Parts: sequence; structure tokens; C-alpha cells
Amino acid sequence: MTTGRKASIFLSSKWVKTQVLLQDPKGKRYVPDTRRFGSASLKSMLERYHMVYIKPERGTHGIGVIRAEQVREGKQRYKYQYNKITRTYETFDAFVTGLRGAIGGKSYLIQKGIHLLKYQGRRFDIRIMVQKSSTGKWETTGIIGRAAAPGKIVTNYHSGGRPMSIDLLLAAHVHGEKKKALIQELYRFGVTIAKVYQKKYPNFRQIGVDVGLDASLTPWIIEVNTSPDPYIFNQLKDKSMYRKVMSFRRAQRKVT
Ligand SMILES: Nc1ncnc2c1ncn2[C@@H]1O[C@H](COP(=O)(O)OP(=O)(O)O)[C@@H](O)[C@H]1O
Ligand SMILES: [Mg+2]
Repeated sequence: MTTGRKASIFLSSKWVKTQVLLQDPKGKRYVPDTRRFGSASLKSMLERYHMVYIKPERGTHGIGVIRAEQVREGKQRYKYQYNKITRTYETFDAFVTGLRGAIGGKSYLIQKGIHLLKYQGRRFDIRIMVQKSSTGKWETTGIIGRAAAPGKIVTNYHSGGRPMSIDLLLAAHVHGEKKKALIQELYRFGVTIAKVYQKKYPNFRQIGVDVGLDASLTPWIIEVNTSPDPYIFNQLKDKSMYRKVMSFRRAQRKVT
């Protein structure tokens, strides 16, 4: 743990951030199964989930993130993709050797892969920005979708992902009242997760909760960011969320 700006906290380990959620009954329901990388954990995770994400414990911007799959039929039973490169293997041992080459000596985690909803063929996930007001109340100040670049497996802005309105991204998947209810649920969900972190880290002032939705519209927490980028909200034509996010930041600066 390192302290950044005065009285704010930055957590870089995805393992530590995941444990915080797992230790809380409200948090743990939404966490995809996560293990430390190793050939035994990889084997059992692939057998159980068929598709997993393998990511650096302390990564950012989607760098080094790998999507791996075990295919049921054919000769090339194992494959992984990072950036736009795909490699396939016949045997598990060759696959692990290939993966270790890509990973190097770094600490990596394996997470159950979520089959993210798509918009025009591009995977997308959702960033929920949650901030503490000057009176100490948590509020979701913005929600934005992030669509991966075509053919890419990560949605991060710095990896070519495009911030977009969630209304537009969700349009092909859910409509009317159901859509309204889902968005409201996501607003509340952000505050629930902020409070889970608050219990352990009372100095938190803001978090960005990254949520992946699968075909059943179940929200899965992919990552919690303790230093979420406010500027992605400036990418939307409607500036109301951006203005709100920035006004909360200014108010926090005055308090701390
Ligand atoms: N378990 C997962 N299932 C589906 N997509 C994932 C999963 N984990 C990561 N991703 C995709 O990869 C992106 C980057 O992963 P993330 O864990 O947020 O690392 P980073 O710190 O580099 O942003 C996510 O925003 C999401 O698009
Ligand atoms: Mg992320």
C-alpha cells in the first residue's frame, strides 16, 4: 500500500483488492473466481470455466492482459490471445510454456473469464465512478461504458478502448424499464462496493468499479480502481457527468 495525494490511498495489488471484496458478504457475490497464476490453478480453472483472463497482479491500462481458452474439439485444444496475437497449442504443457514466455517472471493472477456483452462486435464493460461528497456521503457520480477496439480483449482507453454512453452500449441487450432498472442498480452497486472498501480503508475518497455484464446481465466486478481517471467522462458529448465528477474532486481537495 502506498499513499498518494494527502489522505487518499492507492492500492496497486489486484490480489489485495480482490481479498477485500471476498472478505465481505456483500462484495464476494460479485467477484469472479480469482487465483494466483500457476500451472495447477490454470488447469483447474480452465476445466471449470473454459475461458479465463490472466493478468499482472500490478498492471494498469490493460497492459499484459491475456485471454486464455480451452477448446473442446479439434487438435489445437489450448489458445491464448494478447493484444491481437493468438497462439494455439495441442498440449497443456506446451501451452503453459508458451504462457510463461509471455508472462516472464512477473506475478500474475487468473480470473474466471466473463463473456462480456458486445456492441457492434466489440466487447464492452462499465466503469462506475463513486466519490465521497464534502459531507462524507458516498455517491455514484458517473457511469460510462468502454468498448474495446475491434478484435481486442481489453476495454481500457489506453489500449484503444472507446468511452461511450452506457445507454447506447446497452441498447441492443435490454430495453425500457428493464434498462432503467439495471442502470439504477449499477448506481447503487457502486456505493455498496465503495462502502466495502471504506470499512477497511477509512481514508478512501473515490473508487472506480469496473463491471462486466454477461448475457444474463449479471454484474461481475472485474477490477476496482483506487485512482480512477476522471477524464474519460469528458469523452462523452453530454458533459453533465464530467462536471459532477470534477466538482466532487474539487470539493474533496478543499476538505483534505
Ligand atoms: N475476468 C475477466 N473477464 C472478462 N474481461 C476481463 C476480465 N478481466 C479483465 N478483463 C478485460 O481486461 C481489461 C483490463 O483488465 P483489468 O483487470 O482491469 O486490468 P488493468 O489494471 O490493466 O486495467 C478489463 O477492463 C476488461 O475489459
Ligand atoms: Mg482495469
